[in-house]
Amino acid sequence: MSTVQSIGWSPACDALRILDQRELPHACVERDLRTVDEVCDAIRTLAVRGAPAIGAAGAMGLAAAMTPRADEARDAWTARLRDSAARIRAARPTAVNLPWAVDRVLAAVAAADTDGAASAATLAAALRDAADAILVEDRAMCRAIGEHGVALLRDGARVLTHCNAGALATCGIGTALAPVYVAHERGQRVAVWADETRPLLQGSRLTAWELAQAGVPVTVIADGMAAALLRTGTIDAVLVGADRIAANGDAANKIGTYALALAARAHGVPFYVLAPSSTVDVATPDGARIPIEERDPDEVRAPMGRAAAPAGVAVWNPAFDVTPAHLITGIVTESGVVHPPYDFSTLGAPRSALTP
Ligand code: MRU
Repeated sequence: MSTVQSIGWSPACDALRILDQRELPHACVERDLRTVDEVCDAIRTLAVRGAPAIGAAGAMGLAAAMTPRADEARDAWTARLRDSAARIRAARPTAVNLPWAVDRVLAAVAAADTDGAASAATLAAALRDAADAILVEDRAMCRAIGEHGVALLRDGARVLTHCNAGALATCGIGTALAPVYVAHERGQRVAVWADETRPLLQGSRLTAWELAQAGVPVTVIADGMAAALLRTGTIDAVLVGADRIAANGDAANKIGTYALALAARAHGVPFYVLAPSSTVDVATPDGARIPIEERDPDEVRAPMGRAAAPAGVAVWNPAFDVTPAHLITGIVTESGVVHPPYDFSTLGAPRSALTP
């Protein structure tokens, strides 16, 4: 089984190469990003998106942009690094993976500067190695999430998901979709229902596309159909990703996830959140403190550039909502499945030390 690759290095390794998700499902367009402006723009406009993918893209894009310029002195390079890292770190506010990844590569640069006099080339190499490690580790974390999560699915399982938490949203086989891919790979029957995910249609444009590429049966529904579908008894489990999981287990994910969790609870359907430990933010005690991105009202007024509401009508457009921990049946990380009451507050470094 092969899944799509959302990000990687360009063949010359001088750029971050992304599959431009704004173009899907119409066209597969790859873009090479070499500057901080290009990286920030790609993250803000969702050319690259999904919490783990924007973390890796932020770190890799920073590394590409920080290739030392001809005759660039060490101090000029470090000043440029500070400014570039701050800009990329702030490109989107909700997914904690972005600041996590940027901070991690900055720490690697600091560690490589043992005597405070390392050359720009030495520091740039350390930055690049650290960014590459995030890419490689994320792939492994997705695989581990899939291996743990597949135990939740019986043969013939019918899964409902929201947004896109698949290969396109990560460096590997996804988070919420990872157990689906592992099941499919093992010859276990599995079918997915994908909420179209208003207003930017990550479910119908991206989830349905990547599952179809992999040969997994997928049915798209409009978001408002999910509760009715759950009432029919068709769905065995709801699997979603997360952009940030607070220390108490509250989880921010694409707007509409909370409504899905309420509907799943009302109909007795298990609701799982699947995410790498880089999505767990122990510094945020609960969901009320998670910053929620508000996006351009025109995404609702004129989705895909075509008017769907009167011009200038008032719009509220939060990109994410928070599902309270008590509605979450279990949280699946690369370390296993944890159940309520959630307490990630004791989680120390390394974050991959999460225990089931
Ligand atoms: O605005 P997006 O498309 O970046 O939102 C993405 C999501 O909400 C995903 O579900 C989340 O990042 C998890 S991806 C493994």
